[in-house]
Amino acid sequence: MRFLNKYDKFFICLTLERMSLYFHLFIFVLTLAVVLLFLCSFSQLNGQNNFHRFQFSHDASLLQMTCDKLAKQENAFIWVNSLPTPLKRVKCMEDHLTQNHYITAPLSAEEANFPLAYAIVLHKEFNTFEKLFRAIYMPQNVYCIHVDEKSSADYLQAVGDFINCFPNAFLASKMEPVVYAGISRLQADLNCMKDLLKSEVRWKYVINTCGQDFPLKTNKEIVQHLKKFNGKNITPGVLPPNHAIPRTKYVHREDIAHAYVRRTNIVKPPPPHNITIYFGSAYVALTREFTKFILEDPRALDLLKWSKDTYSPDEHYWVSLNRIPDFPGSMPDAKWEGNLRAIKWSDDRSHDGCHGRYVRQVCVYGAGDLQWLYNSTSLFGNKFEQLTSFPTMECLELRMRRKALSQSETALQSSWFF
Ligand SMILES: *[C@@H]1O[C@H](CO)[C@@H](O)[C@H](O)[C@H]1NC(C)=O
Ligand SMILES: *[C@@H]1O[C@H](CO)[C@@H](O)[C@H](O)[C@H]1NC(C)=O
Repeated sequence: MRFLNKYDKFFICLTLERMSLYFHLFIFVLTLAVVLLFLCSFSQLNGQNNFHRFQFSHDASLLQMTCDKLAKQENAFIWVNSLPTPLKRVKCMEDHLTQNHYITAPLSAEEANFPLAYAIVLHKEFNTFEKLFRAIYMPQNVYCIHVDEKSSADYLQAVGDFINCFPNAFLASKMEPVVYAGISRLQADLNCMKDLLKSEVRWKYVINTCGQDFPLKTNKEIVQHLKKFNGKNITPGVLPPNHAIPRTKYVHREDIAHAYVRRTNIVKPPPPHNITIYFGSAYVALTREFTKFILEDPRALDLLKWSKDTYSPDEHYWVSLNRIPDFPGSMPDAKWEGNLRAIKWSDDRSHDGCHGRYVRQVCVYGAGDLQWLYNSTSLFGNKFEQLTSFPTMECLELRMRRKALSQSETALQSSWFF
């Protein structure tokens, strides 16, 4: 080691002096940057309701990229597994809802003051149901889940365990063995509606869904859509076209063993109370008053009894009752309006075709249907299934969640970001 000489000391002094100048400059620039950053984020906080304080995960960003490509009908190599899916078959822990990214507080006063009830009829695909449930879950709403009585004990157990995690969700007190196009499908909805009326939640509308529906709008948008109807029930439908007339003209028999409905040659008596039969959608949105009314009104009860041996009674029951002028919130002159479901029927030439596969003339959406679903003005899409639709539901959920959080008027929580 050598000692520093005079020149070295001089040099070091000079360097230190210069360094201190640089240091001050550095501190100044840093301070400026921090102030700018603060001002910038402050204005965003005010403008966008602290949306940017939290981040969607890396997985969600990758998924977003894939979805953007799919929506443009570009080829996308689907390498994103999916959004973090809820844990399976785990007994509910206290933090189940936050762990699994459920919304745990109403996102606005408007939504808190307009709770919704859901009657959800399930028969298969637990995973699809779980995705649907998270996508429509809000703590101020109430959910009744009807599981097909024919489902396996395992399936019922899985749904029951899962539902137990939510204070505002329950299984229907009475389960029906559901037969496609049979009265049991309608009865399942009615069982749930009866239970939902006993709930403490003062819901404004009940919406019936099946496990293969998926929302296309946020809870807030659904509320605002329903409010436009001013206390009327939404039951899309018209007088029966020719092909639908035999459905209520002849006696039909439910074959539970083979799960289908068979037409006989026996002609049915005319409907009770001279009720005009309409033909429409099985998917409806009903007010609380109407729901209470039809569970007791003799005309509604007699029509239900009369409908027991018709084909697909859920496609005439709601719409026929809602065209009777003195029923609460009825719409005697309504037609197909209501925008409840986006469905691609195989015989409908107005859409761009089904990119998944048709099941009973209804499109099960594929990834190529994403943009069409984004474009839709309907509240829900039907149908989806895990394999055919992947990653359509994931894309819709991510998009919906981003929108819901950006529309929110409450303080956001980090667990609400995927
Ligand atoms: C039944 O309804 C039809 C048309 O809706 C009406 O012309 C007829 O008078 C009604 N009959 C009775 C018995 O109410
Ligand atoms: C979606 O809407 C855009 C803009 O209106 C339109 O150009 C596009 O063709 C639509 N895509 C589908 C699949 O409906």
